[in-house]
Amino acid sequence: MAEKLHIIPHQHAVSKEDRERQNGHKGYVLWFTGLSGSGKSTVASAVERELHQRGIRTYILDGDNVRSGLNSDLDFSAASREENIRRIAHVSALMKDAGIVVLSAFVSPYQKDRDFVRACSNGDFSELFISTPLEVCEARDTKGLYAKARKGEIKDFTGISAPFEAPIAPQIAVKTEKQT
Ligand code: ADX
Repeated sequence: MAEKLHIIPHQHAVSKEDRERQNGHKGYVLWFTGLSGSGKSTVASAVERELHQRGIRTYILDGDNVRSGLNSDLDFSAASREENIRRIAHVSALMKDAGIVVLSAFVSPYQKDRDFVRACSNGDFSELFISTPLEVCEARDTKGLYAKARKGEIKDFTGISAPFEAPIAPQIAVKTEKQT
């Protein structure tokens, strides 16, 4: 596509390596996947605080800051979720190249979409599965969304009326129902 549009990359004076040297660390994508209410944002936030205290440049991407702006045109159909993750994959990769450790927390229910993020991230990527079971997420129901989904007030709700493909080989699986 880029070739068809005659887009030829400019050789910038400051390289990714220059930025990494200045920051003292690489850019990286930490991808948190799991059901709604599994604890993705909570765990991402705790990890970010640890990294920040160690002087590492970080940023969290999640539904709150992405679906309210960049992706506010997308719903929860399978096609929209794919487009949601496609855009976030590219934003995460750009921020990684800027030298930041990006913590991206999205339900991201499809393995092929998570594999796409991995491919975009050029190997600087870890898939972290917040593996809290559906029963526990539904019992917590912190946002009241499971109750609405059960009543049919929200369609295509992950775990109830839309699929979640658990990661086959995540780098880390976090069992929030058993661990602090
Ligand atoms: S994703 O599937 O496209 O990756 P994303 O992480 O951006 O989802 O957004 C999920 C959040 O949106 C949930 O935590 C929940 O608060 C809210 N939400 C609203 N409708 C749905 C739905 N149909 N399925 C899942 N989450 C929903």
